[in-house]
Amino acid sequence: MISIALLGAGRIGQIHGRNIAASSRARLAAIADPFPDGAKALSAATGAPVRTPDEIFADASIDAVLIGTPTDTHADFIDQAMAAGKAVFCEKPVDLNSERIRQTLARVDKAGLPLMIGFNRRFDPNFAALQRRLADGTAGDVELVTILSRDPGPPPVSYIERSGGLFRDMMIHDFDMARFLLGEDAVEVYAVGSALVDPAIGRAGDVDTAAVVLKTASGKICQISNSRRATYGYDQRIEVHGSKGLLSAGNVHETTVQFAGASGISADPVQNFFLERYAAAYKNEIDAFIDAMTKGTKPSPSGLDGLKAQLMADAAAKSLETGKPVAIG
Ligand SMILES: NC(=O)c1ccc[n+]([C@@H]2O[C@H](COP(=O)([O-])OP(=O)(O)OC[C@H]3O[C@@H](n4cnc5c(N)ncnc54)[C@H](O)[C@@H]3O)[C@@H](O)[C@H]2O)c1
Repeated sequence: MISIALLGAGRIGQIHGRNIAASSRARLAAIADPFPDGAKALSAATGAPVRTPDEIFADASIDAVLIGTPTDTHADFIDQAMAAGKAVFCEKPVDLNSERIRQTLARVDKAGLPLMIGFNRRFDPNFAALQRRLADGTAGDVELVTILSRDPGPPPVSYIERSGGLFRDMMIHDFDMARFLLGEDAVEVYAVGSALVDPAIGRAGDVDTAAVVLKTASGKICQISNSRRATYGYDQRIEVHGSKGLLSAGNVHETTVQFAGASGISADPVQNFFLERYAAAYKNEIDAFIDAMTKGTKPSPSGLDGLKAQLMADAAAKSLETGKPVAIG
Protein backbone atom coordinates (compact mmCIF):
# COMPACT_ATOMS: atom_id res chain seq x y z
CA MET A 1 0.00 0.00 0.00
CA ILE A 2 1.60 3.29 -1.04
CA SER A 3 0.83 6.66 0.55
CA ILE A 4 0.02 9.51 -1.83
CA ALA A 5 -0.71 13.09 -0.77
CA LEU A 6 -2.66 15.51 -2.94
CA LEU A 7 -1.65 19.12 -3.57
CA GLY A 8 -4.61 21.13 -4.89
CA ALA A 9 -8.21 20.09 -4.30
CA GLY A 10 -9.80 21.95 -7.23
CA ARG A 11 -11.58 20.52 -10.29
CA ILE A 12 -8.99 17.90 -11.17
CA GLY A 13 -7.74 17.34 -7.61
CA GLN A 14 -11.22 16.23 -6.49
CA ILE A 15 -11.14 13.47 -9.12
CA HIS A 16 -7.59 12.31 -8.43
CA GLY A 17 -8.10 12.40 -4.64
CA ARG A 18 -11.18 10.20 -4.89
CA ASN A 19 -9.47 7.78 -7.29
CA ILE A 20 -6.45 7.40 -4.99
CA ALA A 21 -8.73 6.86 -1.98
CA ALA A 22 -10.75 4.24 -3.92
CA SER A 23 -7.66 2.25 -4.92
CA SER A 24 -6.95 -0.96 -3.02
CA ARG A 25 -3.22 -0.38 -3.59
CA ALA A 26 -2.91 3.21 -2.35
CA ARG A 27 -3.90 5.42 0.53
CA LEU A 28 -4.77 9.12 0.24
CA ALA A 29 -2.44 10.28 3.00
CA ALA A 30 -3.23 14.01 3.08
CA ILE A 31 -4.75 16.91 1.16
CA ALA A 32 -3.30 20.43 0.88
CA ASP A 33 -5.14 23.46 -0.48
CA PRO A 34 -5.03 27.03 0.86
CA PHE A 35 -8.73 27.46 0.08
CA PRO A 36 -10.42 25.27 2.67
CA ASP A 37 -13.74 24.45 0.94
CA GLY A 38 -12.40 21.98 -1.64
CA ALA A 39 -9.96 20.40 0.80
CA LYS A 40 -12.65 19.96 3.47
CA ALA A 41 -15.14 18.43 1.02
CA LEU A 42 -12.52 15.95 -0.21
CA SER A 43 -11.43 15.21 3.35
CA ALA A 44 -15.06 14.46 4.30
CA ALA A 45 -15.43 12.17 1.26
CA THR A 46 -12.17 10.25 1.76
CA GLY A 47 -11.21 10.53 5.44
CA ALA A 48 -7.79 11.98 4.52
CA PRO A 49 -6.55 14.81 6.75
CA VAL A 50 -5.98 18.38 5.52
CA ARG A 51 -2.34 19.44 5.93
CA THR A 52 0.06 22.03 4.51
CA PRO A 53 2.46 21.20 1.66
CA ASP A 54 5.41 21.68 4.07
CA GLU A 55 3.92 19.13 6.49
CA ILE A 56 3.44 16.72 3.60
CA PHE A 57 7.01 17.10 2.31
CA ALA A 58 8.38 16.61 5.85
CA ASP A 59 6.38 13.41 6.45
CA ALA A 60 8.63 10.42 5.72
CA SER A 61 5.64 8.03 5.65
CA ILE A 62 4.33 9.71 2.46
CA ASP A 63 5.76 8.06 -0.67
CA ALA A 64 4.42 10.33 -3.40
CA VAL A 65 2.59 13.57 -4.14
CA LEU A 66 0.01 14.24 -6.81
CA ILE A 67 0.24 17.85 -8.04
CA GLY A 68 -3.15 19.20 -9.11
CA THR A 69 -2.46 22.85 -8.34
CA PRO A 70 -2.42 25.72 -10.89
CA THR A 71 0.20 25.31 -13.63
CA ASP A 72 2.54 28.05 -12.38
CA THR A 73 3.16 26.09 -9.15
CA HIS A 74 3.97 22.69 -10.73
CA ALA A 75 7.73 23.01 -11.31
CA ASP A 76 8.41 24.35 -7.80
CA PHE A 77 6.37 21.54 -6.25
CA ILE A 78 8.18 18.89 -8.33
CA ASP A 79 11.51 20.33 -7.17
CA GLN A 80 10.39 20.26 -3.52
CA ALA A 81 9.07 16.71 -3.82
CA MET A 82 12.32 15.47 -5.36
CA ALA A 83 14.34 17.16 -2.60
CA ALA A 84 12.07 15.42 -0.07
CA GLY A 85 12.56 12.01 -1.73
CA LYS A 86 8.99 11.65 -3.00
CA ALA A 87 7.72 10.35 -6.34
CA VAL A 88 5.45 12.70 -8.30
CA PHE A 89 2.39 12.53 -10.49
CA CYS A 90 2.02 16.03 -11.96
CA GLU A 91 -0.86 17.43 -13.95
CA LYS A 92 -0.13 18.82 -17.39
CA PRO A 93 1.56 21.09 -18.34
CA VAL A 94 4.76 20.79 -16.29
CA ASP A 95 5.34 24.53 -16.72
CA LEU A 96 4.64 27.15 -19.37
CA ASN A 97 8.37 27.73 -19.93
CA SER A 98 10.34 24.92 -21.52
CA GLU A 99 13.65 26.10 -20.03
CA ARG A 100 12.08 25.83 -16.57
CA ILE A 101 10.89 22.32 -17.45
CA ARG A 102 14.44 21.32 -18.43
CA GLN A 103 15.79 22.57 -15.07
CA THR A 104 13.19 20.56 -13.18
CA LEU A 105 13.79 17.41 -15.26
CA ALA A 106 17.51 17.66 -14.46
CA ARG A 107 16.59 17.64 -10.74
CA VAL A 108 14.29 14.65 -11.32
CA ASP A 109 17.11 12.77 -13.07
CA LYS A 110 19.47 13.52 -10.21
CA ALA A 111 16.93 12.35 -7.62
CA GLY A 112 16.20 9.18 -9.62
CA LEU A 113 12.55 9.17 -8.49
CA PRO A 114 9.46 8.48 -10.63
CA LEU A 115 7.77 11.46 -12.33
CA MET A 116 4.62 10.87 -14.35
CA ILE A 117 2.68 13.57 -16.26
CA GLY A 118 -1.12 13.67 -16.45
CA PHE A 119 -1.67 13.22 -20.18
CA ASN A 120 -4.83 11.31 -19.32
CA ARG A 121 -6.02 10.75 -22.89
CA ARG A 122 -3.45 7.98 -23.40
CA PHE A 123 -5.45 6.06 -20.76
CA ASP A 124 -8.89 6.55 -22.31
CA PRO A 125 -10.08 2.99 -23.05
CA ASN A 126 -11.04 3.89 -26.64
CA PHE A 127 -7.84 5.73 -27.54
CA ALA A 128 -5.68 3.16 -25.72
CA ALA A 129 -7.38 0.36 -27.70
CA LEU A 130 -6.81 2.27 -30.95
CA GLN A 131 -3.12 2.69 -30.11
CA ARG A 132 -2.80 -1.05 -29.30
CA ARG A 133 -4.25 -1.88 -32.72
CA LEU A 134 -1.73 0.47 -34.31
CA ALA A 135 1.09 -1.13 -32.36
CA ASP A 136 0.04 -4.65 -33.41
CA GLY A 137 0.19 -3.60 -37.06
CA THR A 138 -3.57 -3.74 -37.81
CA ALA A 139 -3.45 -0.50 -39.81
CA GLY A 140 0.02 -1.03 -41.24
CA ASP A 141 2.39 1.92 -41.38
CA VAL A 142 0.96 5.17 -40.07
CA GLU A 143 0.61 7.81 -42.78
CA LEU A 144 -1.96 10.39 -41.64
CA VAL A 145 -3.26 11.10 -38.12
CA THR A 146 -6.28 13.35 -37.56
CA ILE A 147 -7.13 14.59 -34.07
CA LEU A 148 -10.34 16.54 -33.49
CA SER A 149 -10.58 18.13 -30.06
CA ARG A 150 -13.19 20.74 -29.21
CA ASP A 151 -14.41 21.98 -25.84
CA PRO A 152 -18.13 22.55 -25.24
CA GLY A 153 -17.53 26.21 -24.34
CA PRO A 154 -14.73 28.68 -23.65
CA PRO A 155 -13.37 29.28 -20.14
CA PRO A 156 -13.55 32.80 -18.64
CA VAL A 157 -11.10 35.33 -20.08
CA SER A 158 -9.47 35.57 -16.62
CA TYR A 159 -8.46 31.88 -17.11
CA ILE A 160 -7.27 32.47 -20.69
CA GLU A 161 -5.02 35.32 -19.53
CA ARG A 162 -3.04 32.95 -17.24
CA SER A 163 -3.30 29.83 -19.38
CA GLY A 164 -0.24 30.28 -21.60
CA GLY A 165 -2.49 30.29 -24.67
CA LEU A 166 -4.48 27.63 -26.53
CA PHE A 167 -1.42 25.67 -27.72
CA ARG A 168 0.15 25.31 -24.25
CA ASP A 169 -3.09 24.94 -22.30
CA MET A 170 -5.45 22.97 -24.55
CA MET A 171 -3.69 21.59 -27.63
CA ILE A 172 -0.87 20.28 -25.39
CA HIS A 173 -3.04 17.16 -24.88
CA ASP A 174 -3.32 16.71 -28.64
CA PHE A 175 0.41 17.21 -29.16
CA ASP A 176 1.02 14.38 -26.71
CA MET A 177 -1.63 12.25 -28.45
CA ALA A 178 0.03 12.97 -31.82
CA ARG A 179 3.36 11.63 -30.51
CA PHE A 180 1.57 8.63 -28.95
CA LEU A 181 -0.01 7.71 -32.31
CA LEU A 182 2.69 8.74 -34.77
CA GLY A 183 5.26 6.65 -32.92
CA GLU A 184 7.93 9.21 -33.68
CA ASP A 185 8.57 12.87 -32.95
CA ALA A 186 7.29 15.63 -35.21
CA VAL A 187 10.04 17.85 -36.56
CA GLU A 188 7.95 20.67 -38.05
CA VAL A 189 4.68 22.45 -37.28
CA TYR A 190 2.48 24.91 -39.13
CA ALA A 191 -0.32 26.60 -37.17
CA VAL A 192 -3.21 28.90 -38.00
CA GLY A 193 -5.62 30.34 -35.46
CA SER A 194 -8.42 32.89 -34.97
CA ALA A 195 -10.62 34.25 -32.22
CA LEU A 196 -14.04 33.31 -33.63
CA VAL A 197 -15.82 32.16 -30.45
CA ASP A 198 -15.21 35.13 -28.15
CA PRO A 199 -13.62 38.42 -29.29
CA ALA A 200 -12.44 38.99 -25.70
CA ILE A 201 -10.14 35.96 -26.12
CA GLY A 202 -8.61 37.71 -29.14
CA ARG A 203 -8.21 40.94 -27.14
CA ALA A 204 -6.40 38.88 -24.47
CA GLY A 205 -3.89 37.91 -27.19
CA ASP A 206 -5.07 34.32 -27.66
CA VAL A 207 -7.01 32.31 -30.24
CA ASP A 208 -10.00 30.04 -29.62
CA THR A 209 -10.01 28.23 -32.96
CA ALA A 210 -6.88 26.64 -34.36
CA ALA A 211 -5.60 24.10 -36.84
CA VAL A 212 -2.13 22.64 -36.86
CA VAL A 213 -0.23 20.41 -39.27
CA LEU A 214 2.73 18.38 -37.97
CA LYS A 215 5.30 16.44 -39.98
CA THR A 216 7.76 13.81 -38.75
CA ALA A 217 11.27 13.18 -40.09
CA SER A 218 10.02 10.15 -42.07
CA GLY A 219 7.17 12.19 -43.58
CA LYS A 220 4.17 11.09 -41.46
CA ILE A 221 1.58 13.86 -41.17
CA CYS A 222 -0.79 14.79 -38.33
CA GLN A 223 -3.61 17.33 -38.43
CA ILE A 224 -5.05 18.73 -35.19
CA SER A 225 -8.27 20.76 -35.05
CA ASN A 226 -9.15 22.65 -31.83
CA SER A 227 -12.04 24.88 -30.88
CA ARG A 228 -13.10 26.32 -27.53
CA ARG A 229 -16.72 25.79 -28.63
CA ALA A 230 -18.77 22.80 -29.75
CA THR A 231 -22.56 23.12 -29.49
CA TYR A 232 -22.99 19.32 -29.29
CA GLY A 233 -20.69 18.64 -26.30
CA TYR A 234 -17.04 17.67 -25.80
CA ASP A 235 -15.87 16.59 -29.26
CA GLN A 236 -12.98 14.09 -28.99
CA ARG A 237 -12.27 12.02 -32.09
CA ILE A 238 -9.24 10.37 -33.64
CA GLU A 239 -8.52 8.85 -37.04
CA VAL A 240 -5.34 7.08 -38.08
CA HIS A 241 -4.90 6.27 -41.73
CA GLY A 242 -2.29 3.62 -42.39
CA SER A 243 -0.98 1.52 -45.25
CA LYS A 244 -3.41 -1.34 -44.39
CA GLY A 245 -6.50 0.67 -43.45
CA LEU A 246 -8.18 3.20 -41.20
CA LEU A 247 -8.51 3.10 -37.42
CA SER A 248 -10.93 5.55 -35.82
CA ALA A 249 -12.40 6.29 -32.39
CA GLY A 250 -15.55 8.38 -32.21
CA ASN A 251 -17.32 10.41 -29.56
CA VAL A 252 -18.91 8.92 -26.46
CA HIS A 253 -22.56 9.91 -26.11
CA GLU A 254 -24.52 10.47 -22.89
CA THR A 255 -26.57 7.38 -23.71
CA THR A 256 -26.72 4.96 -26.63
CA VAL A 257 -30.37 5.87 -27.29
CA GLN A 258 -31.24 7.02 -30.80
CA PHE A 259 -34.47 8.29 -32.29
CA ALA A 260 -35.28 7.45 -35.88
CA GLY A 261 -38.15 9.35 -37.50
CA ALA A 262 -39.38 10.62 -40.83
CA SER A 263 -36.94 13.58 -40.74
CA GLY A 264 -33.87 11.54 -39.87
CA ILE A 265 -32.05 9.90 -36.97
CA SER A 266 -30.96 11.70 -33.78
CA ALA A 267 -28.82 10.66 -30.85
CA ASP A 268 -28.17 12.11 -27.38
CA PRO A 269 -25.46 14.78 -27.10
CA VAL A 270 -21.87 13.65 -26.63
CA GLN A 271 -20.65 13.64 -23.03
CA ASN A 272 -20.32 17.23 -21.90
CA PHE A 273 -16.73 17.69 -20.78
CA PHE A 274 -13.53 16.09 -19.53
CA LEU A 275 -14.71 15.04 -16.08
CA GLU A 276 -17.30 12.69 -17.62
CA ARG A 277 -15.56 11.83 -20.89
CA TYR A 278 -12.27 10.90 -19.26
CA ALA A 279 -13.51 9.47 -15.93
CA ALA A 280 -12.09 6.02 -16.77
CA ALA A 281 -8.85 7.55 -18.09
CA TYR A 282 -8.26 9.39 -14.79
CA LYS A 283 -8.71 6.10 -12.87
CA ASN A 284 -6.42 4.20 -15.26
CA GLU A 285 -3.61 6.77 -15.10
CA ILE A 286 -3.55 6.58 -11.29
CA ASP A 287 -3.33 2.78 -11.61
CA ALA A 288 -0.38 3.19 -13.99
CA PHE A 289 1.33 5.54 -11.52
CA ILE A 290 0.84 3.02 -8.71
CA ASP A 291 2.29 0.34 -11.03
CA ALA A 292 5.34 2.53 -11.65
CA MET A 293 5.82 2.87 -7.92
CA THR A 294 5.13 -0.71 -6.86
CA LYS A 295 6.38 -2.74 -9.83
CA GLY A 296 9.21 -0.44 -10.88
CA THR A 297 7.73 0.08 -14.38
CA LYS A 298 8.91 3.22 -16.15
CA PRO A 299 6.49 6.10 -15.49
CA SER A 300 4.76 6.95 -18.76
CA PRO A 301 3.97 9.62 -19.89
CA SER A 302 7.30 10.81 -18.47
CA GLY A 303 8.73 14.22 -17.72
CA LEU A 304 10.42 14.08 -21.12
CA ASP A 305 7.04 13.51 -22.76
CA GLY A 306 5.88 16.64 -20.91
CA LEU A 307 8.83 18.62 -22.28
CA LYS A 308 8.37 17.35 -25.85
CA ALA A 309 4.68 18.32 -25.92
CA GLN A 310 5.65 21.74 -24.59
CA LEU A 311 8.27 22.23 -27.32
CA MET A 312 5.59 21.41 -29.90
CA ALA A 313 3.28 24.00 -28.30
CA ASP A 314 6.07 26.61 -28.29
CA ALA A 315 6.77 25.96 -31.98
CA ALA A 316 3.05 26.15 -32.86
CA ALA A 317 2.75 29.50 -31.05
CA LYS A 318 5.75 30.77 -33.03
CA SER A 319 4.24 29.51 -36.29
CA LEU A 320 0.99 31.33 -35.54
CA GLU A 321 2.94 34.51 -34.82
CA THR A 322 5.17 34.34 -37.91
CA GLY A 323 2.75 32.73 -40.36
CA LYS A 324 5.44 30.21 -41.33
CA PRO A 325 6.20 26.53 -40.64
CA VAL A 326 8.54 26.23 -37.63
CA ALA A 327 11.07 23.52 -36.75
CA ILE A 328 10.32 21.87 -33.39
CA GLY A 329 13.23 22.45 -30.98
N1 LIG B 1 -5.50 16.37 -17.39
C1 LIG B 1 -6.63 17.01 -17.42
O1 LIG B 1 -7.59 16.57 -18.03
C2 LIG B 1 -6.77 18.31 -16.66
C3 LIG B 1 -8.04 18.84 -16.49
C4 LIG B 1 -8.16 20.03 -15.76
C5 LIG B 1 -7.03 20.65 -15.25
N2 LIG B 1 -5.81 20.11 -15.47
C6 LIG B 1 -4.60 20.76 -14.93
O2 LIG B 1 -4.66 20.64 -13.51
C7 LIG B 1 -4.20 21.82 -12.90
C8 LIG B 1 -5.30 22.36 -11.98
O3 LIG B 1 -6.42 22.70 -12.75
P1 LIG B 1 -7.89 22.79 -12.13
O4 LIG B 1 -8.80 23.02 -13.27
O5 LIG B 1 -8.15 21.66 -11.20
O6 LIG B 1 -7.72 24.16 -11.30
P2 LIG B 1 -8.54 24.62 -10.02
O7 LIG B 1 -8.30 26.10 -9.93
O8 LIG B 1 -9.94 24.11 -10.05
O9 LIG B 1 -7.80 23.87 -8.81
C9 LIG B 1 -6.50 24.21 -8.36
C10 LIG B 1 -6.53 24.10 -6.83
O10 LIG B 1 -5.20 24.28 -6.34
C11 LIG B 1 -5.27 25.07 -5.17
N3 LIG B 1 -3.97 25.68 -4.92
C12 LIG B 1 -3.48 26.84 -5.41
N4 LIG B 1 -2.23 27.04 -4.91
C13 LIG B 1 -1.94 25.99 -4.10
C14 LIG B 1 -0.82 25.65 -3.29
N5 LIG B 1 0.26 26.43 -3.26
N6 LIG B 1 -0.87 24.49 -2.58
C15 LIG B 1 -1.95 23.68 -2.61
N7 LIG B 1 -3.06 23.98 -3.35
C16 LIG B 1 -3.05 25.11 -4.10
C17 LIG B 1 -6.38 26.07 -5.45
O11 LIG B 1 -6.88 26.61 -4.23
C18 LIG B 1 -7.40 25.20 -6.17
O12 LIG B 1 -8.32 24.60 -5.28
C19 LIG B 1 -3.80 22.78 -14.03
O13 LIG B 1 -2.42 22.68 -14.23
C20 LIG B 1 -4.53 22.23 -15.25
O14 LIG B 1 -3.83 22.46 -16.46
C21 LIG B 1 -5.66 18.95 -16.15
